[in-house]
Formats: sequence, C-alpha cells, structure tokens
Amino acid sequence: MLPSIYNPSEPFTLGILGGGQLAKMTAHEAFRMGLRVAIIEHASESPAGLMTKLDFSRGWSDAADVEAFRKASDVITLENEFIEPDLLEQLEEHRLVFPTSATMRLVRDKLQQKITMSDAGVAVPVFAAIETKDDLFAFGATHGYPFVAKTRTHGYDGYGNATIKRDTEIDMVWRRFMEGEVQRPLMAEAFVTFTKELSVMVARNRRGETAVYPCVQTIQQGHICVTVLAPAPIEEHLQQQAQAIAEQCVAAVNGVGVFGVEMFLTLDDSIVFNEIAPRPHNSGHYTIEACHTSQYENHIRAVTNLPLGSAAMRVPAAAMINLLGERSGSGVPDSVIDALRVPGVALHLYGKKESRKGRKMGHLTATAASVDEAFALASRALDGFVW
Ligand SMILES: Nc1ncnc2c1ncn2[C@@H]1O[C@H](COP(=O)(O)OP(=O)(O)OP(=O)(O)O)[C@@H](O)[C@H]1O
Ligand SMILES: [Mg+2]
Repeated sequence: MLPSIYNPSEPFTLGILGGGQLAKMTAHEAFRMGLRVAIIEHASESPAGLMTKLDFSRGWSDAADVEAFRKASDVITLENEFIEPDLLEQLEEHRLVFPTSATMRLVRDKLQQKITMSDAGVAVPVFAAIETKDDLFAFGATHGYPFVAKTRTHGYDGYGNATIKRDTEIDMVWRRFMEGEVQRPLMAEAFVTFTKELSVMVARNRRGETAVYPCVQTIQQGHICVTVLAPAPIEEHLQQQAQAIAEQCVAAVNGVGVFGVEMFLTLDDSIVFNEIAPRPHNSGHYTIEACHTSQYENHIRAVTNLPLGSAAMRVPAAAMINLLGERSGSGVPDSVIDALRVPGVALHLYGKKESRKGRKMGHLTATAASVDEAFALASRALDGFVW
C-alpha cells in the first residue's frame, strides 16, 4: 500500500496552480485539515492568493516564481485545465503533481478527451477533428444540422463553442475562431438533444480507490451553468448509470484528484458523455454543505493519498445558484442583507476584485427536505442580492 505523503506531524504544503475560486475553496479545506497552501497565479490578490503568504503572483510564465512555488510545495495540484503539460512535466521532475501531466494530455484537448472516452467504451456524440473550413461543410453534410463547433482547448463557460444551424453560418464561425487574434484548433460534434444535463464528481486516489458523488442536474443559460440540483431528479437506475460512467471516465484518464464528468441525458434516456474537468467543479460546490466530505476535501485527500471520505449526501437535497456578475465594476455586491435572511442558505463570495457581466462572482447553496424546496430557498436568497 502506498503511504500517505501527508504526515500531519510535519508542516506540509499543498501547491495550487491557479488562484481563483476553486483554489480558494480548496485552500479553505486544506487549512482546516492542517496543511499550508502555496498559490501561483498571474495576478496579485487573487481570491486564493490573498489567503496565504506563499503567494507567487508573477505566475507560471515567470521561471523564478515557478521555482519558488515548487520549492514551497510538497505536492502540487491545479485548478484549471489550461496549464501546459510541459510545465507540469517540468514540475514532476521534482515534485508529485496530481493530476499528472499524462492525465492532462488526455484531458486538456477536447478532441483527445472524446477519442479517449470513445476508446474506453463510453458513449460520446459523433465527433470529428476540423482542420479546414471545408471540414465543417463536410461534417454538416454527413451528420446534419445543427452541430456544435468547439475550440479543442481553452474553452470555458461556452466561450469556445458555436452551434451551427445551417451551412450559411459556417463562414462566420470560421472567422470567429480562425481569423481572430488567437487561433485555436477546432473540432465538431453532433448536437445532442437532451432532456437534462447531468454531472458527477469523482475523487480518485493513487491506489485507484474512488469516492463517487451523487449525480446532479446542471442547468445552463447561454452555455453558462446557473443552477445545480442535487440529487438530479431522475430515476434511480439513471443515477447509478451516470455514476458508473463517470467512474469509468476518470479511470480512463488514470485520474488522481477530483474530476467533474458532464453528461447529457437524451430523449430515449441514454447517457452521453460531454466533457471531463480534471479538478473541483462548479457542479460540486453543493458538496460543501450537502455531503459528508466536500469535493475540495476529497481532492486534497486524493492528491495526498489519504483515505477518501464519504461522498454521500448528509441532507436530503440541495440547490446551488451561481452569482453571475451583472455589471462591470466592483466585485463586492451592494447588499447581501436580504439574501442572508433566508434560512438554510449558505453564501459564498469569491472576493474577485472586479465584476464583469456573466463572471462567476460567488454562489448560494440551499439545503432542504427536497430539491424543489432547496431551489425555492436559493432563488429567494438570490432575489435578496443587490449588485
Ligand atoms: N454536442 C452538444 N449538443 C448540445 N449542446 C451542447 C453540446 N456541447 C455543448 N453543449 C452545450 O454547451 C454547454 C457548454 O459546453 P461545454 O461543456 O463543451 O463547454 P465549456 O465551455 O467547456 O463548458 P463549461 O461551462 O463546463 O466550462 C453545455 O453544457 C451544453 O449546454
Ligand atoms: Mg462544460
């Protein structure tokens, strides 16, 4: 059996590449568990950087900062999938890094993800690599419209996606992705008509042990996740099927850490893989208040090779609503007083310096006897929020 690399009798530092809200919530749990935290991010006063003296704010393109961060860290993890695998490999020469560069090479490119999952026997939408504009026309001609063009890397909150409804839209989409300042390789996939979007968090440690969270429903508006309902209001056998698929996906990339697996539930009740996130995930925020062990704690346990904690819910139901920026300006809301008056709702504000329209500034989680009740409470709290 592999020993845990975290020995609570000695100071131990978890290094996190990235300083946003996911790093912040991970750091919060790490401090509670007696660890220290080092943050590297291309910004001073990032949400997580503000929490620790070990804040390296010149970021990972600065060699001196990378070295100081690496020396300060006993084990290294990350909060976003856009970190270059080469940098992870460089860090791996000196430190354990989870997820590993090998996992990240399979995950950071959405085309490679789809190939990997399809090879592992997971149901995925029909997809293809896109090299030229003609490839887009060919995909539409073969598989029909609408279909979805996606940048293979650096997509988040739907920013790298375009739904193509007819062939006359292809020129515009091509210009948007391939003739702007930054060009990113594209892929295409069939449009999945879904009845629900589902997500399952899976924590997996180096021994291959897993803790699989309940399947939740995610609701997106304009490709951004706005609401999460836990557990997803679906039949028990679909719950179990989604959990089994998610576990299979994380094993397929030999994942260590916590992973979010996004799936579609189709009209005929089949479950189709959408994407995997190699880190704590927006759809797992609810685990802080609603599960025995949060996704953040289990992420830390996984990367330090400690036994994983129970992923079961300790309340009947939860609902999470994202607080998306409504303006450009201060990241501090004008008032939270009415929101805090609603019982059973936890407020999370990330402490971002600036708000932008649609930017994730915080979230609300309500717990209750049923998903409907939890959603009603979270919605009431949202109404009490003044930006
Ligand atoms: N093939 C598809 N068919 C139908 N809808 C899709 C498809 N792919 C993506 N979408 C919609 O767009 C949303 C965002 O897509 P995806 O998860 O690929 O992008 P992202 O930008 O990486 O996402 P995230 O919001 O998770 O950061 C999905 O949650 C879904 O609502
Ligand atoms: Mg997604």
